[in-house]
Amino acid sequence: MALKSSGTPVVKALNGLLTTELRAINQYFLDSKLAAHHGFEHLAEEFRKASFEEMNDAEELMDRILLLGGLPNLQRVDAFATGESITEQFQLAKELEEKAVGQLKAAIVTAEKAADPGTATMLREMLLEEERQVDWIEGQLGLITTLGDTAYLAQQIRS
Ligand SMILES: [Fe+2]
Ligand SMILES: [Fe+2]
Repeated sequence: MALKSSGTPVVKALNGLLTTELRAINQYFLDSKLAAHHGFEHLAEEFRKASFEEMNDAEELMDRILLLGGLPNLQRVDAFATGESITEQFQLAKELEEKAVGQLKAAIVTAEKAADPGTATMLREMLLEEERQVDWIEGQLGLITTLGDTAYLAQQIRS
């Protein structure tokens, strides 16, 4: 049986999510390397951890797409940006996570309509993780506002 990347509405939704995860992997990996380059070892580790979490998400999505008889689409790449300042990096991360949350909510509805509770359950667990990431990012933005850039960054030097 030939695998189809277009496939059912559920496979399409999962591939849409996969595209966002691939962008997140790259964006956070670059954020991590930039932070390390500027000497912010702690922040570099946090972004690196985030990048690897997104890779786990991408793997889970790919496995599920294959299980459903679809073909994971790794060809479609979203453009991504990294910020020139740490604040901007976090703002872009927040936008990205909010996009993922919105897509996940829509994909859960699609899976439920297609009577696919297995996929819906997997996506719900992913949604909790992404919401936790949004919360972490908002926390960092809050700290930056409270402490100011310099004091915040002074806490990010040591790993
Ligand atoms: Fe993710
Ligand atoms: Fe995420």
